[in-house]
Amino acid sequence: MELSRFGEKFTSESGILALMDDLGRALAGADKKYMLGGGNPAHIPAVNAIWRRQMQQILDAPGALERMLANYDPPQGNAAFIEALARLLQRQLGWQIGPENIAITNGSQMSFFLLFNMFAGPMPDGSRRKILFPLMPEYIGYADQTIEADMFTARRPLIEEIDSHSFKYHVDVAATEIESDIGALCVSRPTNPTGNVLTDDELAHLDRIAQQAGVPLIVDNAYGVPFPGMIFEEATPLWNENTIVAMSLSKIGLPATRSGILVAAPQVISAVSACNAVVSLANGSIGQTLVAPLLDSDEIMHLAREIIRPFYQQKSQQAQRWIGEEFGSDIDYSVHRSEGSLFLWLWLRDLPISTMELYQRLKKRNTIVVPGRYFFFGLAQPWEHQDQCIRLNYAMDDADVRRGIALIAEEVRSARV
Ligand SMILES: Cc1ncc(COP(=O)(O)O)c(C=O)c1O
Repeated sequence: MELSRFGEKFTSESGILALMDDLGRALAGADKKYMLGGGNPAHIPAVNAIWRRQMQQILDAPGALERMLANYDPPQGNAAFIEALARLLQRQLGWQIGPENIAITNGSQMSFFLLFNMFAGPMPDGSRRKILFPLMPEYIGYADQTIEADMFTARRPLIEEIDSHSFKYHVDVAATEIESDIGALCVSRPTNPTGNVLTDDELAHLDRIAQQAGVPLIVDNAYGVPFPGMIFEEATPLWNENTIVAMSLSKIGLPATRSGILVAAPQVISAVSACNAVVSLANGSIGQTLVAPLLDSDEIMHLAREIIRPFYQQKSQQAQRWIGEEFGSDIDYSVHRSEGSLFLWLWLRDLPISTMELYQRLKKRNTIVVPGRYFFFGLAQPWEHQDQCIRLNYAMDDADVRRGIALIAEEVRSARV
């Protein structure tokens, strides 16, 4: 089989493909596994009960199931959902937007594929542009999404050591000037993999320099407000005509419906809708149909504030307590401040092996984590820090998270002798 450059790039051993294959193999077999690796949100019974109720209402209303399953939506998305979402964002966040500011995609992974390739790569005038990630580490799923090679550039963070066992990354403001080859900036807030939430000042700075340079600031809000609300700190959501906010229905518990949302200037929305028509024809309607009634009633706010946020915050605090108990005082470890998302980011500074090697050793003990280096891309220089960190998903079953943490502590201790 002879493949194009596109074909080669998207089928070659990308980090994420290799990791997913490896994880798939690791998960096969009958032994009990401690799965702290993936990005799946938890199955929360009170949330699943709402999806069941919504589905039942659709089944019971004459013609509703057929409308959901048997019609193509326009490429921008489902009009009723988009209008209700515009009203919710106006009401809850005070954003001055209308339906012309919203487009739906088949999952926010697809949103990023479209945005990165629309704003970076070869330009009509022959120049080349890149996406700037002002703070590494960032979401692993961005890493291999560009059609052309070498389309990312990134900056290391400043590290604030809060106390002996906790730290926080900050944007290195002095290092984030925007050169003329930058097509857009991108940050996730809350951040996957670290649970960081960029401060309002950091975001305001990025907004300012993006506006000055005349390039968009993409804010990945997959874990933020108004939904799913996996954010444990006060942080002001930002939107203006130069910002592209990406949202998703995945982390409120509907990842299988593949529903991504973009809130942006009308030109961006028209461009994304045009791309949707070409690559997808239309988006899946099921997630939008299930969720639309919860928007006008504000039930989505109740879901986010009263169910999802407390659930994850409690799981995060509990997992941090277990890390404290299992790692004790003999292991040099630090956990990134858990401000949102469903991950803990562990820094093992004096580990004599790389966290890639630790991952391999843990896999043999049926414990799955994600080694840090996958979350660092676009940096000009290698950085030893990337091999000193691991990401844990704390959203899984309590007993599994606790046992997984104990096994990590055991392996870290045995690597040090
Ligand atoms: C930060 C971030 N952005 C985007 C995505 C992709 O989400 P979706 O399921 O909407 O494609 C994820 C999924 O884990 C994520 O963590």
